Amino acid sequence: MAIEFTKLHPTFGARSSAIDLRQAQEPLLQQIRDAMDHYGFLVFPDQRFDFQQQLDFASRLDGQLHSKTSAAAIAKNRFGNEALTDISNVGADGQVLAHNDRRRMSGVANRLWHTDASFEDPAGRYSMLFARNLPPVRADTQFADMRAAYDDLDPDTKAQIAGYTVRHSIVYSRHVLGFDFSAEESARLPGAIHPLVRNFPETGRRSLYLASHAERIMELPVPEGRLILRDLTEHATRERYVFSHEWQLGDLVIWDNRTTMHRARPFDDTRYKRELTRVTTLDLPRVPAL
Ligand code: OGA
Ligand code: MN
Repeated sequence: MAIEFTKLHPTFGARSSAIDLRQAQEPLLQQIRDAMDHYGFLVFPDQRFDFQQQLDFASRLDGQLHSKTSAAAIAKNRFGNEALTDISNVGADGQVLAHNDRRRMSGVANRLWHTDASFEDPAGRYSMLFARNLPPVRADTQFADMRAAYDDLDPDTKAQIAGYTVRHSIVYSRHVLGFDFSAEESARLPGAIHPLVRNFPETGRRSLYLASHAERIMELPVPEGRLILRDLTEHATRERYVFSHEWQLGDLVIWDNRTTMHRARPFDDTRYKRELTRVTTLDLPRVPAL
């Protein structure tokens, strides 16, 4: 079946024509990867995944799955598989989490601009978030185009930041919010160092690789690096680079964490349930299918 994409924003993002991803095989999977390189994030409406089908699709599309999540460091996954991240405000009993629940606090932190698993090495590549149960109010996810933001930097800034590397730590970003992991939890989330500017030979493009998890620029004194990271984030999250996705039940949204940032928007989460499941792949070389 032919797949078509409709652009969602002037610089990135697209919506797919009707397609059942449970059945997706090559060469369709390669068309989706190519579209991901081009658009940075894709919306696939009306999907019908059970848990295993969502996991299987993610592996077929992009290889090895990320399971060392911050959620796994806090509590056991309610679906019994740490690669299927529970993006919800609901506990094992099916009820909305109490307002001071640590799992809720960790979820609320998704409202910071971030990239999934940038605190891992290899980092996260694609994230695939599937809407299973939505509140009757808007609870959008926003995406920011880190390639367009990089392109618009002035040449001096591009030259200055070209060789910088950044330490990413979720223990740091949560601490800034006033949420602290225990020593044992922190030991499971040691952080990672990645280049500030990513280069993609496939598309000839570059991207800023930022996040609230970005703790310091390794080549600079800590305060100076933090100020540069703050300025770049402010630049890269200006309205012109941002798209808000309004969720519909059955949407699967795939984003490339290397070329986009994202954040959750607030809603009355002590009143309404919102349940999505996310699978994230690791940024490893793809093994060609036999
Ligand atoms: C995620 C995430 C945002 C949201 O799933 O990685 O950040 O709106 N989600 O739920
Ligand atoms: Mn996220």
